[in-house]
Amino acid sequence: MKSALITGITGQDGAYLANDLINEGYKVYGAVRRGSTPKIGRLSFLNIIEKTNLVSLEVTEFSNVYNILTEIKPDLVFNLAAQSFVQDSFKHPILTTEINYIGTLNLLESIKLSGIKSKFYQASTSEMYGEVLSDPQTEETPFNPRSPYAVSKAAAHFLVANFREAYGIEASSGILFNHESELRGREFVTRKITSQLAEIINGSDRVIQLGNLNSVRDWGYAPDFVKAMALIINNKPNDYVVATNKITSVREFLRLSAIASGMRPEFEGEGLNEKCFDKNTNKLICEVNKDYYRPSDVVFLRGDYGKIKKELGWSPSTDVETIIEKMTKYDLDAFSGKPRNFGI
Ligand code: NAP
Ligand code: GDD
Repeated sequence: MKSALITGITGQDGAYLANDLINEGYKVYGAVRRGSTPKIGRLSFLNIIEKTNLVSLEVTEFSNVYNILTEIKPDLVFNLAAQSFVQDSFKHPILTTEINYIGTLNLLESIKLSGIKSKFYQASTSEMYGEVLSDPQTEETPFNPRSPYAVSKAAAHFLVANFREAYGIEASSGILFNHESELRGREFVTRKITSQLAEIINGSDRVIQLGNLNSVRDWGYAPDFVKAMALIINNKPNDYVVATNKITSVREFLRLSAIASGMRPEFEGEGLNEKCFDKNTNKLICEVNKDYYRPSDVVFLRGDYGKIKKELGWSPSTDVETIIEKMTKYDLDAFSGKPRNFGI
């Protein structure tokens, strides 16, 4: 039986990937770091807790990483563990760097030193393009990172390429553009919008506080994107952009989500004074709050997935409208007295 170790299994992507690999017959090991309560909500929701082998792993601790890898000797290692919230990386740049860069180095160095033959997948990111130097972004577009998160991920990305070249380690990076789902963390803007709209629909007086509404992203669906990870790791080591090539602004995501929630959204004002009202109730549902602006932001991303389509046959299958419908339905159900889906 083939085996895979997923760091970050408790996160959005880790849970969906584990589900796919289990269905494909892999023995899946999931790296979990200690917390005061177990963060297994997503794995429970997908009903795969009993089918995963959870191991205690803190990626910043070299001996921990080395011992787990040499004990399990997995065929595949997916490195998804990260401090993944860009805004938080401005407050915690050292922690972000240790997890995202040193964590990756610990894994690669352990594979190198132990001589185990694991194939390695690195969760690289479109954030590395930062203030983009060409449009759409491809595997050839230079990086121009705009946050400690993006810098740490760019450093890890180069490290992966270096271990591939220098030591022949079968390591690949997927440069994934933003991907969302019902299991997305609530601090990211898409889930913040759909979950807080659901609270308002269910009677809360909350007014959603957002930052830059003009920011534009290339949003895909996480269950589609984890399929690309599995294709990448199982082919010749290389780097691939994974994206949809379609763009949507934060304002438009809010407008479409409000409509999907049954509201009639209308925007008034500009800049910091911009507000969104539900014309069905005349209630204020969203206002701009400068606390959610970043010291430096990435305001535009659009990926070209031509290489992965041509070489590995992957294409996105879910458009942003469908993603919004799915997330909205999930959050409306969760807030309307139905079981809270394990707190996700
Ligand atoms: P996520 O939901 O934030 O999950 C991050 C995972 O990393 C969680 O399981 C977390 O564990 C784990 N982790 C954090 N610090 C750790 C540490 N020190 N030791 C061990 N595990 C640790 O992220 P995601 O959205 O699934 O993204 C997965 C990966 O893809 C990340 O590397 C992210 O940077 C990258 N990425 C994501 C996107 C996207 O749009 N989602 C796009 C490009 C790249 P806890 O549950 O204990 O916190
Ligand atoms: N989170 C958040 N909250 N973002 C907001 C808000 C808000 O209230 N208001 C506006 N935004 C803008 C951000 O400034 C950013 O330009 C955009 O919405 C998207 O923010 P996030 O959803 O937090 O995602 P991200 O693009 O910064 O990072 C995500 O995608 C990356 C891939 O490009 C994360 O998943 C990263 O881990 C991932 O690498």
